[in-house]
Amino acid sequence: MRVGGSDPIREAARLLVDRRNAVALTGAGISVESGIPSFRGAQGMWGKYDPMEYATLHAFMKSPRKVWEMLSEMVSVCGGAAPNAAHKGLAALEEMGVVRAVITQNVDGLHQAAGSRRVIEYHGNMEELLCVYCWKRYTTRERWAPGAVPLCDCGEVLKPNVVLFGDPIPWLAQEQAEEEARSCGTLVVIGTSAQVSPACDIPRIAKESGAAVVEINPEETSLSRNVTDIHLQGSASEVLRLLMEELSRGG
Ligand code: APR
Repeated sequence: MRVGGSDPIREAARLLVDRRNAVALTGAGISVESGIPSFRGAQGMWGKYDPMEYATLHAFMKSPRKVWEMLSEMVSVCGGAAPNAAHKGLAALEEMGVVRAVITQNVDGLHQAAGSRRVIEYHGNMEELLCVYCWKRYTTRERWAPGAVPLCDCGEVLKPNVVLFGDPIPWLAQEQAEEEARSCGTLVVIGTSAQVSPACDIPRIAKESGAAVVEINPEETSLSRNVTDIHLQGSASEVLRLLMEELSRGG
């Protein structure tokens, strides 16, 4: 662990307690330990699927069946995953009254599965499908099968209710996320490379509103030297375990 004084875990725990009203912002890194690959970096999804060909709204409208090659992999990987110690740690911090909300870029539903109650799904959720022609909605469970492309009753190919590049952020999620960022005491940023906007603006909004920013990531990101106050350099589950220990010691 580095950046900050001699004991950044203790410092971070102190920030969480003293400043109260912590909010978490999570990215793909928090679900890596649940077996869901991240997007960038080694083994990332975008190394296998060019996002410009498989993850834009334009690509979906042009060749939905091709885009479903990538989406099917995401549905099966997310469907088979379980929350890990980091997801459970955040849910426990909510129970303890330390963290009041989780803003997630992930579409895997693992925060809710771990017991987190206030979860803002900034990029939507994989468990719902919608028809972009007649706006009918279905659960992925009822319409998706491995290797098949899910169709609406109107015959069109269904789209998961996730934000593809070129899609707008669900306005309520954006409103709520920015409100949480503007009014939190500490923003804990976990497992995101902070390369995709507008999600990567949330730490800046929090910082400009007076919050402290704690980053949990084994790597440095664009935030680490500009926005982050304490960078806890390690895996989400390990760092949250140490933080919980420190908090329970009354740190
Ligand atoms: N614990 C914590 N962080 C981790 C771990 C781990 N075990 N493993 C990897 N990371 C970090 C990586 O170092 C990287 O900085 O998680 C980050 C993952 O970054 P990305 O793959 O870029 O994922 P994310 O930031 O969530 O992507 C944002 O981009 O592709 C779109 O819509 C997609 O929501 C996604 C958005």
